[in-house]
Amino acid sequence: MTSSRIERVHAREVFDSRGKPTVEVEVTCAGARPGRAMVPSGASTGRFEAVELRDRDDSRLDGLGVRRAVANVCTEIASALIGLDADDQAEIDRRLIELDGTPQKSRLGANAILGTSLAVAYASAEACGVSPVVRFREIWSSVVGHVSNVPVESGHVGNVPHELGKRMLLPLPMVNMISGGLHAGRQLEFQDFLILPVGATSYSQAFEWIVMVYRRLGRVLTERGHEGILIGDEGGYGPKLRTNEEAIELVVAAIEAAGLKPGSDVAIGLDVASTHFFEEGRYRLPSVSSSPLTSEQMVDLLDRWVTLYPIISLEDPLAEDDWDGWRLITERLGSRVQLIGDDLFVTNVARLQEGIERGVANSVLIKVNQIGTLSETLATLKLALDNGYWPVVSARSGETEDAMIADLVVATGAGQLKVGSVARSERLAKYNQLLRLEESLAGDASYLGGAIFRRNPGSRFSS
Ligand code: PGA
Ligand code: ZN
Repeated sequence: MTSSRIERVHAREVFDSRGKPTVEVEVTCAGARPGRAMVPSGASTGRFEAVELRDRDDSRLDGLGVRRAVANVCTEIASALIGLDADDQAEIDRRLIELDGTPQKSRLGANAILGTSLAVAYASAEACGVSPVVRFREIWSSVVGHVSNVPVESGHVGNVPHELGKRMLLPLPMVNMISGGLHAGRQLEFQDFLILPVGATSYSQAFEWIVMVYRRLGRVLTERGHEGILIGDEGGYGPKLRTNEEAIELVVAAIEAAGLKPGSDVAIGLDVASTHFFEEGRYRLPSVSSSPLTSEQMVDLLDRWVTLYPIISLEDPLAEDDWDGWRLITERLGSRVQLIGDDLFVTNVARLQEGIERGVANSVLIKVNQIGTLSETLATLKLALDNGYWPVVSARSGETEDAMIADLVVATGAGQLKVGSVARSERLAKYNQLLRLEESLAGDASYLGGAIFRRNPGSRFSS
């Protein structure tokens, strides 16, 4: 007979999309099939993220092995969880946090803890005989109280941000076209040049548009003598361009070449990832200026680009420590574009709370491994929604074939997903899972797309 009592907790070392070792955990409930989860890994990590435990044993895999984290799952964590109820995600995560006992999960490793936390959710789904998206929906309901299953009537979205988190939603994808920064040999200072297909009316249409822009961008790059084949860690093109503006212009050209309208059909987002060129209180942007920029000059520059180009989203425009700069950009651009804190908030309730109190940003990136348990991830998502911040569920630059975040973003109705580009199967695993969910949840899940940005009177999408 199946029950949700945890009977076995097992882990192994597997490899991610950069060929780096990572943790895979299997949790099995009595009489059920195991639930399995794989842990992603970032390259441009924030200083305040939960700590990924690596072996640091130079004689093996350059010290990157995760055998210590694996051993922690198979011994200490397994002993603590066997016999517990996998349906009680909050209690499981509370135990994991307590067992580790450090502020950034550095003792057992956030990779060991997250793999276990997620595998428990999958094991519970197996034991209850429900799909992962249904199980995530139940867990989300227990975090936020009752959530409706009634889909939004099309053409009647009302006060859209209030719909976020309330019902199952296929997300608006935010998709990398050109990679720079730490993801593509530092050719460009900015990390991601992304598109948001805000004018599409369904997830599948949005995805088709993205694929066409990506294909046209490859052609445009080749025609202009750039490398239109080499791709970065997240599948975006990694051409050798002189400036960040050139990358934006090429993406605009690709949108037009796909027969779409820049701005109203497909808008642009940037992940500036500025923490990585912030040195001694200044932003080092040699392609813009030989002397490093102050926070104010950085805001001036981005303000100019937001005016000049169809940009509607800026991630980490200022560094993780630059609260004053963040405040300034929020005052200047917060009613015109989405301002996402990634390194700034690291999916951490305390950091997001500080941001809310200081009046900075209007959006938060949600990455499960930045914080290390499913429950804490959902707490941050809830805090964001309670305060009118747009959540953007996100993958890492180091990913696996695990498509968990596709189920998570739909179940929570977060509204947006950032996964990288439309090449490389660790990315497509998520996009394809969304196509399956769009089909299987027809009638139960809605698609709001770009309408989620209609809240702000000054926004491009207020009409
Ligand atoms: P990372 O990049 O996974 O390397 O941190 C993703 C991002 O910065 O959004
Ligand atoms: Zn980022």
